[in-house]
Amino acid sequence: MKIEQVFKNNKHWIEEKLKTNTSFFDDMGKGQSPEMLYIGCSDSRVTAEEVMGLGPGEVFVHRNIANMVISIDLNAMSVVEYAIEHLKVNHVVVCGHYGCGGVKAAMQSADLGLLNPWLRNIRDVYRIHKKELDAITDEEKKYERLVELNVQEQCVNLIKTAAVQKAYRDRNLKVYGWVFDIHTGKLVDLNINFENILKNIMEIYHLD
Ligand code: CO
Repeated sequence: MKIEQVFKNNKHWIEEKLKTNTSFFDDMGKGQSPEMLYIGCSDSRVTAEEVMGLGPGEVFVHRNIANMVISIDLNAMSVVEYAIEHLKVNHVVVCGHYGCGGVKAAMQSADLGLLNPWLRNIRDVYRIHKKELDAITDEEKKYERLVELNVQEQCVNLIKTAAVQKAYRDRNLKVYGWVFDIHTGKLVDLNINFENILKNIMEIYHLD
């Protein structure tokens, strides 16, 4: 990759944007009011806006290895707080993807140094769903299922936050779990039953 090319691309992008809307950058300078928070994997193949056909200003994005929502991760928690409390998004998406290197690494027994504590959260997902996962004999299918279950558990983690619980009560905010299929380009809705999860975990995690 030539870095100079990036600046050439940028120039071209500006021209293209101005061709369709002469006030594109004037409008962008006025502020943002996205309606969605997207939490996805840092994987270079899973670009948030592009796979959803959305443009600048439409989605607030947080990406990390294996799309994790960890309660003591100040970075992720600040994004959640800011998007929900200040930008007032009404849709929060956790999007995983098949072929996720982070999930794959968590399935193997190897010391990965600094990555160990991060990946341990995925191993915890495996432990919670051990019975279901151990019953799957096909390694690839087991891997794909762990990707899905990880998305589900990160949705649960979101629902444990005060920001989500309050916004659900006040304005019916919704949490969605999706998987991006890198083999076909398709976004798959896991149809996470948000309200059911909320009801089930509220006994212990009720904050508001
Ligand atoms: Co990934």
